[in-house]
Amino acid sequence: MGMIFTPVVLLLSAIFVPGVFSDVHEYRLVRDLMKEYDKRIRPSKNHTQALNVTFGVALAQIIDVDERNQIITTNCWLNQGWLDNKLVWDPAKYGNISVIRLPHGDVWKPDILLYNNADVSSTVTTVSTNVIVTNEGNVTWLLMSIFRSSCSIDVKYFPYDIQNCSMEFASWTYDAYRLNIINIGDEGDISNYVTNSEWALLEYKHRRQEITFSCCPEPYVFVKYHIVIKRRPLFYLFNMVMPCVLITLVALLGFYMPSDSGEKISMGITTLLSITVFLMIVAESMPPTSDVVPLIGLYYGITIAIVSATTAMTVLTLNIHHKGSRGSEIPAIVKKICFGFLAKLIFIKLDLPEPPEKGMHRVPHTDLYGYEMPPFEPMIRNQNGGLSPRIGNKVHAGGATPIDNCEQQFIRVLQKVYQTIERNEIRLTEQDRRDKIKQEWQQLALIIDRVLLICFIFLTVTTTLSVLIPTNAT
Ligand SMILES: *[C@@H]1O[C@H](CO)[C@@H](O)[C@H](O)[C@H]1NC(C)=O
Ligand SMILES: *[C@@H]1O[C@H](CO)[C@@H](O)[C@H](O)[C@H]1NC(C)=O
Ligand SMILES: *[C@@H]1O[C@H](CO)[C@@H](O)[C@H](O)[C@H]1NC(C)=O
Ligand SMILES: *[C@@H]1O[C@H](CO)[C@@H](O)[C@H](O)[C@H]1NC(C)=O
Ligand SMILES: *[C@@H]1O[C@H](CO)[C@@H](O)[C@H](O)[C@H]1NC(C)=O
Repeated sequence: MGMIFTPVVLLLSAIFVPGVFSDVHEYRLVRDLMKEYDKRIRPSKNHTQALNVTFGVALAQIIDVDERNQIITTNCWLNQGWLDNKLVWDPAKYGNISVIRLPHGDVWKPDILLYNNADVSSTVTTVSTNVIVTNEGNVTWLLMSIFRSSCSIDVKYFPYDIQNCSMEFASWTYDAYRLNIINIGDEGDISNYVTNSEWALLEYKHRRQEITFSCCPEPYVFVKYHIVIKRRPLFYLFNMVMPCVLITLVALLGFYMPSDSGEKISMGITTLLSITVFLMIVAESMPPTSDVVPLIGLYYGITIAIVSATTAMTVLTLNIHHKGSRGSEIPAIVKKICFGFLAKLIFIKLDLPEPPEKGMHRVPHTDLYGYEMPPFEPMIRNQNGGLSPRIGNKVHAGGATPIDNCEQQFIRVLQKVYQTIERNEIRLTEQDRRDKIKQEWQQLALIIDRVLLICFIFLTVTTTLSVLIPTNAT
């Protein structure tokens, strides 16, 4: 009987007799405090008096900066304190208890919210447990929250940009005559700040402002926290700028490639494609704004222009390279400028053919048996426009003796041989002339290639340096 009765007595005593399982003083204190407490009432001594709320936001971490959606995500610790006249007691009457913790839902709280909130669900990520109450009515409410605040992100100097984001806190319903927000400290609290690998925190400051809205005559108190952060550019320089520079240099080497290889154009097109791929990666991380072109976008634009121009110029020099096969001469002025001036300027050693000597330098002047041939007679043009040696005109005047016949025969053969040699000579001269022209065009193409190589290297280095060296980033 007693075995069953004892737990029932214990259970009943736990319900009806206070102080069996908890401290009797604390139990009594909370009971007494909450007896007449109404959490809907602003705990001001006089309704005409504003309630002072001390307010502080400690920046714990910058979680993310979303350039595309213009949102900055931060982890913040909020500290709010105020004086609640209803939560006052004499510690001597309650066993010297001077501090108690109450569930935050049971007491009045100011409705201070983040005004430039970009995410309604931030209330879900707010961690709030208890409020700390002292016997003088000093209430302290500590909470942790992940804020997603809107911030207009200016990517003009990306990746050397500095962003100035603000978080604006104010009471949603209480105006400045009802609720007065007072900042804690002169500077923002960054004692618990965890450094971010992409952004360096430059400044964290707050400012108190009273703003009057169009809706109501009363001013509202705003506390603005400015987060000034600077991007660390190493990642972008290493992953976006450096490949771009290397690809451009490879594209420029197209000018150095021999024209006969036939790969010049395809190389230019390939580099153009790879730069376009990189540009797409950059464009993905940029906000789709038309206000400004980010520095890196400008750089990619210039680079694409350079590589396109390189490819176009390659077509030009290839055309010049093969122009000689059509046999037309290089205009004298071009020849003078390029072979005389430009070649010296860029220290190129010309490989021009010697101007061929006039006459039969290729054919020996003796016949098979070593006899001296008669001296070469200059050519005259006959009526048909063909070429024939002058010797033929003298021959027909001779008589018709057998010796004469034999001589005539011999002279005729000789004449034929002369003609053959002559034709051969003309062909060779013509061949030499064509070779020379061809070679000259090729040399011209080489000079132009080299000049373009130097020009484009200069252009690339200039644009790259102007991007790599941070200038007036504000
Ligand atoms: C509230 O303050 C006003 C003046 O500031 C005073 O006239 C009034 O008596 C006060 N009321 C109470 C309940 O203290
Ligand atoms: C609130 O703070 C202001 C100064 O910031 C002070 O003048 C005023 O008396 C305070 N009000 C209360 C009720 O403590
Ligand atoms: C409360 O503190 C006073 C003096 O500090 C002491 O005399 C008294 O015994 C304490 N009461 C309890 C219940 O501890
Ligand atoms: C309330 O507590 C805070 C922090 O502990 C303190 O700075 C402030 O002076 C206290 N206010 C009163 C009225 O005791
Ligand atoms: C950030 O912007 C605020 C105004 O919105 C300005 O007061 C503050 O000086 C700015 N900070 C920097 C470093 O530009």
